[in-house]
Amino acid sequence: MTAAVHVIRHPLVQHKLTLLRTKTTGTTAFRRLLHELAALMAYEVTRELPLREVTVDTPVGPATGQLIDGKKLVFVPILRAGIGILDGMLEVVPCARVGHIGLYRDPHTLAAVEYYCRLPHDMAERDAIMVDPMLATGHSAAAALDRLKQAQPRSIRFVCLVGCPEGLAHLRERHPDVPVFTAAIDAGLNEHGYIVPGLGDAGDRYFGTD
Ligand code: URA
Repeated sequence: MTAAVHVIRHPLVQHKLTLLRTKTTGTTAFRRLLHELAALMAYEVTRELPLREVTVDTPVGPATGQLIDGKKLVFVPILRAGIGILDGMLEVVPCARVGHIGLYRDPHTLAAVEYYCRLPHDMAERDAIMVDPMLATGHSAAAALDRLKQAQPRSIRFVCLVGCPEGLAHLRERHPDVPVFTAAIDAGLNEHGYIVPGLGDAGDRYFGTD
C-alpha cells in the first residue's frame, strides 16, 4: 500500500510559508521563519508515534500517562538545506538523535552521489524523520532514503516544506512506503530544476550564499 502524502494546512504553517516564499524576506527573517515552521511541522509529523502507558507519582498521587515508545527519534537532514529545518525540530524534540546524509548531483550523469553519511548506531530502535525543505526532482530524496533504509530504522517519514508533482511522483515510485509531510505542493519545476513558484534556493536563502 502506498503511504499518504500529508499536506499541512494549519494556518500558522501557511502564514509563515507565505512569508518565507516572499523574495524580500532577508536571511535573518528567513532563518527565523524556517525555524518556526520546522517546529510546527515537527508536531504534525510526530502525531502518530506509538505511545506506551506508564504510571508516575505526582505530588498528590499516582497518575497514568503515556510516553513515546522505544528509543525515540532520529532526525536526518539532507545536506545542506536540511540543516535549516533541524534546529526547530530539535526544539520540540530535544532528545532526538541526528544523522546526516550529504549528496551532490553528478553534473554529467545527474545521478545523486553520496559524499557524507553519519547515522547513530542504534537505528533499528529509532523512528527516522528525514528532512529537506524542497522536494524538487525527488532524486536526492530518493537516494538519501535508499541510504537511510540500509540502516534499517524502525520507521521512516519524510518532511519537506514545498513539494511538486514531479518530485512526489518520483518519491512515490522509489519509496511508496514512506509517508510524506509537506506544507505545499506547487505547480512544477522550471528548466533549471527549481520549484515554481517555490521559494528559490532554500540553502542559499538560509545560509546567505546567493
Ligand atoms: N532546491 C531548492 O532549494 N529550491 C528549489 O526550488 C529546488 C531545489
